Amino acid sequence: MNKPASSRSNIIQRILDGRTGRLLATASAYAPANIALCKYWGKRDNELNLPVTDSLSLALGRLGSRCRLAVADGADAVSLNGVDLPPDHPFSQRLFRFLDAFRLAGKPRYRVETVNTIPTAAGFASSASGFASLVLALDALHGWNLGERHLSILARLGSGSACRSLWQGFVHWHAGTDPDGMDSYAEPLPDAWPELGIGLLVLECGKKSIGSTEAMRRTVETSALYAAWPAKVAADLEALRRAIAERDFHTLGETAESNALAMHATMIAARPPVLYWQGASLDAMQKVWAARRDGLPLYFTMDAGPNLKLLYRETDIAAVEALFPGLIRARQGMEPDPNPE
Ligand code: PMV
Repeated sequence: MNKPASSRSNIIQRILDGRTGRLLATASAYAPANIALCKYWGKRDNELNLPVTDSLSLALGRLGSRCRLAVADGADAVSLNGVDLPPDHPFSQRLFRFLDAFRLAGKPRYRVETVNTIPTAAGFASSASGFASLVLALDALHGWNLGERHLSILARLGSGSACRSLWQGFVHWHAGTDPDGMDSYAEPLPDAWPELGIGLLVLECGKKSIGSTEAMRRTVETSALYAAWPAKVAADLEALRRAIAERDFHTLGETAESNALAMHATMIAARPPVLYWQGASLDAMQKVWAARRDGLPLYFTMDAGPNLKLLYRETDIAAVEALFPGLIRARQGMEPDPNPE
């Protein structure tokens, strides 16, 4: 699947195209986390994070990552949530490899300070907002002034779903067909739907049993159900786009929930199987379904972990919080930056 000709650094240097802006001493940027309503599951290229299908997400407002970048004298250094990490920490290693692909002749070196406003310890993916904020901060630090399409492609090279984390609101990632991925980027939808609520339900805080890259690879290579996934995505995307345009909450919730369950079905059928659900996940699903039977319009979606994300109408928040007291609400504010410097 991988082509040595189009490495990550080739693509990055092609996008930078010899740009030499004015290098600032520091720069800072914020990016929101995002939750897919129609999931990205399966890569057609592992090095460039090129997906098999399109996907569609909703941003989490003020839950995300702030990245502060400074030019460093010595080696690259990184801190996460105010704690300096050793250079051999997996988080540091992943970041340094990404930064290496940006610099020619090993320069400059950076100090990267990342602060997550999304609870990372609870297993909610922060890599999307982390890489998106890093790419925005790199662009500002170097004065490259790249367009949104190129910024989205660069964020994708860090983590696939990061290409959707550059905007608030609904975002559509086009899978594209170019082997180099120059047509695989995300774009925001014009629709705003502030009455649509999304909240995070923390059920289990442990580390993931298996990372999403390996789980995707295993699903694509061994799951008989994966053949049905692209058609499922195409139908769900169409339904979601229509639901968003018409503010049809039931269709949106039903489609997002069904899409998440279908994604999990593909991986449960992999060999060996991948199952992120815990007992608490199943209990929460049953509770959502029972609430719905009792007349509360409430739906869930789930990613590569045991926790649920709930979809509801903001007008129903009191009933939702009564059922799920610890819910972390993401307000869909359009404010791009909660902590401007
Ligand atoms: O971007 P990654 O490699 O962390 O993959 C994300 C995959 C899912 O979260 C399960 C689905 C999605 O579209 O975000």
